[in-house]
Amino acid sequence: MTRALSLLSLLGLAAGLNIMNPLASLNTVKPNGKFGKKKLVVITGTSSGLGRKTAGALLQTGKYHVVGAVRDLDKMEVIAELDGFDPADFTAMECELNSYQSVRDFHEALCKFKEDKPVDRLICNAAVYQPSLPYAKWSVDGHEQQMQINYLSHFLMTSLLIDDMTKAPDPRVIMVGSVTGNDNTVGGGGVYPIADLKDLAGLKEGARNPISMFDGYNFIGAKAYKDSKLCLMMTSNLLHDKYHKQTGIAFSSIYPGCIAESPLFREKRAWFRKYFPIFMKFITGGFVGEEEAGMRLMQVAHDPRCSKSGVYWSWNGGPREGRGEEALEKDGQILGGGGAGGGWDSIYENDQSDKVLNKDLAADLFKFSTQATGAVWPRANQLKPADPAEQFLASVTEFMNRKEELKRTAPGPGVVAVVAEPHRTGELDERIDEVLGEEGMKVARSTEDSAA
Ligand SMILES: NC(=O)c1ccc[n+]([C@@H]2O[C@H](COP(=O)([O-])OP(=O)(O)OC[C@H]3O[C@@H](n4cnc5c(N)ncnc54)[C@H](OP(=O)(O)O)[C@@H]3O)[C@@H](O)[C@H]2O)c1
Repeated sequence: MTRALSLLSLLGLAAGLNIMNPLASLNTVKPNGKFGKKKLVVITGTSSGLGRKTAGALLQTGKYHVVGAVRDLDKMEVIAELDGFDPADFTAMECELNSYQSVRDFHEALCKFKEDKPVDRLICNAAVYQPSLPYAKWSVDGHEQQMQINYLSHFLMTSLLIDDMTKAPDPRVIMVGSVTGNDNTVGGGGVYPIADLKDLAGLKEGARNPISMFDGYNFIGAKAYKDSKLCLMMTSNLLHDKYHKQTGIAFSSIYPGCIAESPLFREKRAWFRKYFPIFMKFITGGFVGEEEAGMRLMQVAHDPRCSKSGVYWSWNGGPREGRGEEALEKDGQILGGGGAGGGWDSIYENDQSDKVLNKDLAADLFKFSTQATGAVWPRANQLKPADPAEQFLASVTEFMNRKEELKRTAPGPGVVAVVAEPHRTGELDERIDEVLGEEGMKVARSTEDSAA
């Protein structure tokens, strides 16, 4: 039976379906409403560590359909079976974050799968950590790999989903950040190399081979990872400022704690992998198990309190707090009561470093990342008045202002700026007449008079 299912999986893949489980693929042909009242969550990297546990925790509530965006569908199939993910509520789709094309293909497959159901949660979780590399590895698109996998591809994915998510009630985009990207802590600011984008000279030039670092200086693998986390956190803040009011989406980032036993550290040396968890459990107290970290990320997707936007979520209980003998008895892990943080109610809004909060640099980061990824964002557009009369007046004044601006930017003495639009004020007048009618024009003229 399993072999037959695998064969079907392969056939599905060959047909370009990119859907892991043939049982799950049957779900795609269910009529609209196939999700019932369940919320639709997209999580990148559900085949391991934090993403895997978060998917499990969400599925356990019975309130979510989780789409796992993964690079290895076969691995995901095994994990899903081991963890008992119900194929009716979990769908894996291929997404290789090392390639923009793969992100775009994933988005297309997702849209086909979900039909008109909007995505309720996007969790940008997948990452690689390559601190031991002596030289940069390059992505399909020519970027340093960690920067693309961890940051740039998530940036692109968010841009692809933002319009769709606007249609969901209580939509949330969650970026998995890290203490290492936030240099106002010992974990982030005390251990060289420190996350620092400087003035983004590397990204400004496109950050493509041979430019490995966003700051334009020499490659250090550990710094690239930290920089990628800093970028995610800055982007979360910027998206909050730019789009939260307009879209209703809550943009937040989180630090789940140090998941010292997760496969993230697979590229570190064997001695490090052995002793790091012990050090974090018993010396610093910063350790968190995968299960508890999964609960934390799940909380930010699930807890009504976390519909607040612009927040960097963390869990209370500093290093060594609540430790001692009890920790030793419990193998260093105290669920919900201290250690590297307590449970559900110890969540708090953590401080962010000056670098994370640097709005000028965030604006540059957004601009250059948009250029690098080819992302297309909705026009930032603050809320319009709800009152119909005010809306009418607003559209009249918008037309009038546009008309005046066209005149002002027409070629003439002293005009050095490049003329962006053809100047057809006559045509515009006609269009205004057409849209507003006689009554509207009267209002427009009186608006002009009162403005004068
Ligand atoms: N571990 C920690 O102490 C810690 C602390 C703070 C923050 N974090 C953050 O937590 C998140 C999860 O980390 P983790 O500890 O759970 O590590 P992990 O177990 O290594 O999980 C990373 C996930 O990302 C996926 N991934 C890697 N490269 C990919 C690519 N090119 N395309 C698509 N998916 C890719 C991996 O897929 P495969 O299964 O195929 O490898 C895996 O599912 C990361 O954002 C990390 O920065 C971790």
